[in-house]
Amino acid sequence: MISLAELHEVARQRLAPEHYDYFAGGAADEIALEDNEQAFRRLALLPRILPGSARRDVAVNLLGAWASMPVFVSPTAFHRLAHSDGELATARAVAAARTVLIASMAATTTIGDMAAAARAVDPDAALWFQLYLQSDTEVTDLLVRRATDAGCTALVVTVDSPVFGHHERDRRHGFTDLPEGLAAENMRDLPGGPRNIEMSPVLSWDDLERLRASTSLPLVLKGVLHPEDARLAVERGFDGILVSNHGGRQLDAVPASIDALPRIAEVVGGRVPVLLDGGVRRGTDVVIALALGATAVGIGRPVLWGLAADGESGVRQVLELLRGEFDHALALCGGRGLADLTKDLVTVRGPEVG
Ligand code: FNR
Repeated sequence: MISLAELHEVARQRLAPEHYDYFAGGAADEIALEDNEQAFRRLALLPRILPGSARRDVAVNLLGAWASMPVFVSPTAFHRLAHSDGELATARAVAAARTVLIASMAATTTIGDMAAAARAVDPDAALWFQLYLQSDTEVTDLLVRRATDAGCTALVVTVDSPVFGHHERDRRHGFTDLPEGLAAENMRDLPGGPRNIEMSPVLSWDDLERLRASTSLPLVLKGVLHPEDARLAVERGFDGILVSNHGGRQLDAVPASIDALPRIAEVVGGRVPVLLDGGVRRGTDVVIALALGATAVGIGRPVLWGLAADGESGVRQVLELLRGEFDHALALCGGRGLADLTKDLVTVRGPEVG
């Protein structure tokens, strides 16, 4: 495979149409979904010349975890729909690539089993847990305890989903339930019997404060698009911001993630790491995001395409392709390290006049 797009094509052929569309689709007219990728194409890079060194260092510390490149894996649900090895394959591949995996609360494998699979490859594998705050605090607390016991070193709280997004592709297929034998395994054995993952518009900053007080793990807020929310998050002592529109699966009228990044980076002013996901498909996208203020970027669907195409090996290919492309793009931009990626390298595509 020579690009992420090729792996996507193989995955499209392998997957049942309703499962492909569940992974690929977005909300409503899929404007945000498409714009996440298109927005990168509207930007251009102004490379610097003559770096004076052939060495490039691309490792980055993310809330205490060393990642071998500024690309991590964003949380996506139901990996066993993509491949029978599911999240175990993903965990092994990400550990082998020595980067951070954010496990989804809606995984079809328990967080404990994912951690064991990752640690068998690399005892220092970095695993974070993504959480939807549940209105029943007992459930939230138990999920946090399971993640902590599994050795997760940060929690990523997804805050862009007060209600579920409307996915018209799923409706068209009548895709509402996981096939027999697959389940959201982290939601088993909870107080009050088996639970579905709940979204709740009732949750507020106070609920986040409560979570903050109940755990010593760093907390990242995922799905921040408004600069004012980024400012509130930093002021209230949260440890990181993940700029994301949920891969275009929630509110369809939002901007592309990369278009929302600069203002958030400005407001945050380096006080906490600003992460981004949505539409990252090339090494040059990573360069653009870092130049505009991201500390690292996440990929969602490309991991699912790798998994569907070739299990653990497919996910490894995705990560190694992006690593190679990113390093190459950094070299072509005259960069030696991540600190060389500054805002002045990015311009809007089209003629510069006046
Ligand atoms: C997601 N995403 C997501 N986010 C989250 O916080 N919890 C979750 O369980 C899921 N599940 C999920 C399933 C599927 C099929 C997709 C495509 C996405 C959103 C995900 O973390 C991320 O924000 C986007 O996928 C990033 O965009 P790209 O890389 O897919 O363009």
